[in-house]
Amino acid sequence: QKACGVGTAPVNIALSKYWGKRDKALNLPINGSVSISLPGLGTETRLKPINAEKDRISLNGKPLADNAVFAERLSRFLDWFRDDRESAFEVETHNTVPTAAGLASSASGYAALVLALDDLFDWQLPKETLSLLARFGSGSASRSLFNGFAIWHRGSREDGLDSFAEPLQVEWPDLTIGLVKVNTGEKPVGSTAGMQQTVETCDLYQSWPQQAERDLQTIINAIKSNDFSTMGKTAEHNALSMHATMIATWPPIVYWQPESLSAMQLVWSLREQNIEVYFTMDAGPNLKLLLQEKDRAAVQKAFQERGIGIEFLHPFSG
Ligand code: DP6
Repeated sequence: QKACGVGTAPVNIALSKYWGKRDKALNLPINGSVSISLPGLGTETRLKPINAEKDRISLNGKPLADNAVFAERLSRFLDWFRDDRESAFEVETHNTVPTAAGLASSASGYAALVLALDDLFDWQLPKETLSLLARFGSGSASRSLFNGFAIWHRGSREDGLDSFAEPLQVEWPDLTIGLVKVNTGEKPVGSTAGMQQTVETCDLYQSWPQQAERDLQTIINAIKSNDFSTMGKTAEHNALSMHATMIATWPPIVYWQPESLSAMQLVWSLREQNIEVYFTMDAGPNLKLLLQEKDRAAVQKAFQERGIGIEFLHPFSG
């Protein structure tokens, strides 16, 4: 064992979403999902065993209180990996998120932590196994072990050993992601609680698992055949369908802000002008745009003219 382990992992954006668990303790999903990672945007974690009663956790240089929700969840995750019940860890987590991103980072966070554990204990485990371990921390973290496209398999085993992510070895150099930051003072419902409530109270959710599996296959095929239009359309439809189940939950969960809808309408009007841009959204008010490099300047201009902040990233070229 080394004195210190280090791990870094990117954030990822699901093109076909994970929403709903078939096992809450193991984070086993009701449906599979596929994502694209954003290199250069993510988490770096340093991990050190210490002689202490409790874990010492810091986020971006600031120590967290033991009872902070984030720290409690992280300590519970680390319980899986302690030598004995006494041992504690020092965890230093840094997120590298650009100003306008507004991206949640539990996915890159747990993936980086698992990589730091692998480094610390010198396990040298394959990425697929590390993906399975990251899944225990946060379902979407299973996809953050990889750059590029990743597929998280639903799996069918009760013990979850077949539910991990794998890379889809296809590169799309001109794929461009636009991060649209919508300002919000409100703290949204976390995804763990949000999906649970949806599964329990939303009648529309009945149709979700089937659609999600179909969209997943459609998007995987579109990625393999370099079909941007089908990928974009299906990703946007999938995200809106997921949000429909959230809205039809009781009490309602609406992640959108008025500015979210304005940004969606702008995307739709750009498409009417034959500028091919699509969006996806997660458990928050921000949009993530999917476009090709040839349309970036036009999209940038349209958003800037409306005073909506936007930042572009290229998943396959730095
Ligand atoms: C809407 O992975 O954050 O972003 O497994 O409870 O930690 P837990 O949930 P989480 O859910 C992500 C939901 C989503 C869709 C997605 O990333 O696939």
